[in-house]
This record gives sequence, structure tokens and C-alpha cells, in this order.
Amino acid sequence: MIATNVLVIGSGVAGLTFAVKMAEQFPERHIIIVTKGDKDESNTKYAQGGVAVVLDAEEDSFQKHIQDTLIAGDGLCNEAVVKMVVTEGPKRLKELIDWGANFDLDSEGNFDLGKEGGHSEYRVVHHKDITGYEVERALLHRVGQLSNISLLSHHFAIDLITEHHFKSTDAESISCYGAYVLNESTGEIITIQSESTVLTSGGIGRVYGHTTNPIIATGDGIAMAYRATARIKDMEFVQFHPTALYNVEGGTSFLISEAVRGFGAVLRNKKGDRFMLDYDERAELASRDVVSQSIDSELKKSGDSCVYLDCSHLNIDDFKSHFPNIYNKCITQHINVETDWIPVVPASHYLCGGIVVDTHGRTSIENLFACGECSNTGLHGANRLASNSLLEALVYAHNIFKYHLNKSSNTEIPKIPNWNDHGTGITKEHVLIQHNLKQLQALMRDYVGIVRSDDRLKKGIKHLDLIYNEIEEFYKEAKVNTALCELRNMINVAHLIISQSITRTDNKGGCFNIDN
Ligand code: FAD
Ligand code: SIN
Repeated sequence: MIATNVLVIGSGVAGLTFAVKMAEQFPERHIIIVTKGDKDESNTKYAQGGVAVVLDAEEDSFQKHIQDTLIAGDGLCNEAVVKMVVTEGPKRLKELIDWGANFDLDSEGNFDLGKEGGHSEYRVVHHKDITGYEVERALLHRVGQLSNISLLSHHFAIDLITEHHFKSTDAESISCYGAYVLNESTGEIITIQSESTVLTSGGIGRVYGHTTNPIIATGDGIAMAYRATARIKDMEFVQFHPTALYNVEGGTSFLISEAVRGFGAVLRNKKGDRFMLDYDERAELASRDVVSQSIDSELKKSGDSCVYLDCSHLNIDDFKSHFPNIYNKCITQHINVETDWIPVVPASHYLCGGIVVDTHGRTSIENLFACGECSNTGLHGANRLASNSLLEALVYAHNIFKYHLNKSSNTEIPKIPNWNDHGTGITKEHVLIQHNLKQLQALMRDYVGIVRSDDRLKKGIKHLDLIYNEIEEFYKEAKVNTALCELRNMINVAHLIISQSITRTDNKGGCFNIDN
């Protein structure tokens, strides 16, 4: 048993930002960050486009950014939250810069601002096309300087500790007392008892198999919170990024940033037609839900496997200077951006829904907070505006920190039992995990993709039940390991996505059903 003041689950932008703020303000408090992979592995590390923030008061305004966010969210954003996040943005960005993150400047020394889909102005602050890598680097560096933070990599959070573990479950209000955590190197399950627990465990891309997300994105935090009875909302709004580099195998796909379209690249079908003009007057810079649904429709009409991003008319030196990582990745795939069109398809990218939080980042469970992609703040509504995610994480990490300024540090913690794996054994049946994972991903891609139908959603739930039952049975008998827990979590997340899609009777943003 380890006791700490604050337990943070995840080491992306949300978790690291919050941990840094807490550690700086309260040198006497101990913060543990557990993270299941290498310390930098996260969706954050792969962010390309940048951070949307209003810095140029002459051309841009908070009002325009607010309006763009509301339009992208298709009427389902919480307007007060949108206002708060947008207006706090510049201050939070400044802190990140003070911690050492570098963003590109133009020849006059001003921020070189990019543009992406749904933005009416140039307002995306970036570091080349590897903004997330730079943000993660700077934050990890700052974390390393703070002696009251312990960062435990390869530590997998299995479940939150709540009354469910030591009282009858009819407790009126549920509190969180920390988490059970698997040390992936030793196989030991540690009880980490904590006054505050902050879920910053990121997204769910891997539920779909074909995704821009790295393999850590298995929705663990959302599934843990759901099992602990926290409120989860808007799970039907899965955002598909329109331009993942096409690869035949599917799996994790390299992203071709929306900023490339902001830079002037256009989408063409195999025949060479610039088809987006037929769907939306904003063409390639329509919001992501619109562009992905349009590509889906083109592919269904033609039977082709991908569409193309044409950059051949752009100044190649400028392109290389703005997007060196994308340029080089294409070269490794024998695509010369100067002359060849880049084959692209939509891929699962971001979850707009998640664990419901208030403006302080508080979930419906006492002493449990959520921040970043696993949370549902009301900012994104039915579809996230590009580059609003890093921004949201920075703003909410600050809000949770502010809440802790007045939260007493000596909450009484009851005696917590250790993890009980009585009657379980080491499994030799790994094939069950792999098989069911593939089934789950195929089911989500084919039945719960960009365009859905009532029939497919209902059939999807039935198929999912079979997978669920097989894995629950397996879970009761097997000693836990990461792959098994991740699959179990993805099944929970898939259930939430399908069931919340079924209850929608309209078409909004990222949830389009031909029967609505
Ligand atoms: P993450 O950065 O994903 O971090 C989650 C952390 O939790 C990881 O460290 C993970 O290992 C850990 N974790 C998960 N489960 C467990 C567990 N059970 N136990 C222990 N640890 C766990 N957004 C923008 O605003 N601008 C962009 O330009 C942009 N580009 C993107 C490009 C790509 C390719 C991708 C994939 C996303 C992009 N996004 C962008 C979205 C944005 O990067 C993410 O939404 C954001 O970084 C999420 O931050 P986070 O801290 O919430 O989660
Ligand atoms: C991108 O660079 O296209 C991704 C931006 C985002 O997801 O916000």
C-alpha cells in the first residue's frame, strides 16, 4: 500500500500539466503519476496541428473562436464552457511557454499561426508539425525538476478504489480513494491510496482498430469511471479525422495534419475531381465531421479504397519547412508530396464524449477528477473544433489545480483492502484476447463507423454481448494483465458508444445515422 496526496493516471498534456501546477504550489504534498507505457507515450506526443488560441487581437477575437467552436459542435456545446476555455487560452499557453515549450515564430517574431478546418481565422500556435512532441518534452522536463512528483512508467491502473470495494454498494454517495495499479514489470498489484485521484488517461481510438491514436488509447479511464458508476456522456460522438495516411493493413495510421489543408492542399477522388465543393461551401476546411462524412460518401459511391490529398500546387520549400515530419514520412512511403497525391482515408481520431465534469473538473464521484480527452466538459458538443483539445486540457488542468487551492489535504481515508485475485490463475489462453480484440474492432468499424444505421447498431449490441460474456468469464479466472484489462475496458467503451448512439434520434456532428 502506498499513500499519496494526489494520484494522477496518465502522462499526457492533461496529467503532466496538472501535476506540475500542484507540485509547484504545494512542495509539501506528494504527487504520484502512473502511466502504462513509456512516460512520453500518449496521444499528446503525436499532436501535429497545434493549440488553438486567440493571440492576434487585430485579425481575430475571442468571439470568433467561440463562434467557430459552437458551430463545429453543432448546437451541443455548453456555451459558458466554450467562453471560459477560449478566454483562458492565452494565459494557459503562456505558462506552457514559461515551462520551456517552443512554438514557431514568423519573420517578425510573432507566433506563426496556422489554420485548420472550421476556424475562421489563423490562430493555431504550433511547433512545426510536431507540436505534441514538443509539449510533451517540455512538460516531462519540468516534471523531472520537481522532487515531489514520482512518475511511475509501465504502471497500469486497473480500477478505481471506491466504496464498492469495502462496503455494500448502496452507499449514497460514492467517493474515490485511489486506484489498484499493476506494476507491469513485476506483475505486482499495488494499492495506491490517495486523497484526490485525477483521471487523465486519454482517448479510445484503438476501439476502432483503424485510428490515428497510438496503442495506449484504449479508453481505460472512461471504463474505470463507468464501472465506478461515474456519469459518462456523449460517447456517440467519435470524431473521425478525414486524412489519415492510407495503409492497407489499417491499425494505427500516420496523420496528415488538417493544417496541410489549412495551408492550401485540396482533396480529390481517384478521377481527380475536387469533390468537397459538392458537399460544403467551406470545401476542405469544413469541420471534420462534414469532411469525413463526405469522403465516406465518395468512397461508397466509387468503391475506391481511398481519396487523395493534392499538395502539388503548393510551394514545396514552404511545405517542407512547415511540415517536415509529414514530408519525410511520405518519402518513406515513396510519396513525393511535390508531385504525388497523398492517399488518405478517415480514421478514428478523438472522442468528444467521456466522463462528465463540472468547470472544476469534478466528476460525479467525490474526490475523483477527470481532465483531457477522457473527460466531457461540454466544450466540444457533437464535434471538436481542430486544435481545441490541447487547449481544453491546459485550461481544465488549471481549473482542477485551482479547486485544490481550497481543498483540505487531510480527507479521512477508510481502511482499504488490497486487490483480491483469489481463485485466479495465470492464463495460457492469450488467443482469446487477440481473437476478441479483432472481433471487437471489426464490429466497431463495420457497424458503428462514420455512417450508422439502427439495424447495424442493434446487431452491434448483440455481437458485443457475446464478446462481453466471453471476456467477463475469462476475467474472473485469469490473473490480470494489461492486454486483458485493456480489452475489457474497450468492451465497456464500445458498449457506451453503441448504446448512446442508439438513443440519439437526430443527426448531430460526429453521430450520423441514416435512419434519423
Ligand atoms: P493522452 O495524451 O492520450 O495521455 C493519456 C495518458 O494516459 C498516456 O500517458 C497513457 O499511457 C495513460 N494511460 C491510459 N490508460 C492508462 C492506465 N490504465 N493506466 C495508466 N496510464 C494510462 N489536439 C489538438 O488540440 N491539436 C492537435 O494538433 C492535435 N493533433 C493530434 C494528432 C494526433 C495524431 C492525435 C492522435 C491526436 C491529436 N490531437 C490534437 C488530440 C490531442 O492530442 C489529444 O486529445 C490530447 O493530447 C489528449 O491529452 P490527454 O492528456 O488527455 O491524453
Ligand atoms: C491535426 O493536426 O490535423 C490534428 C489536429 C487536432 O486533432 O486537433
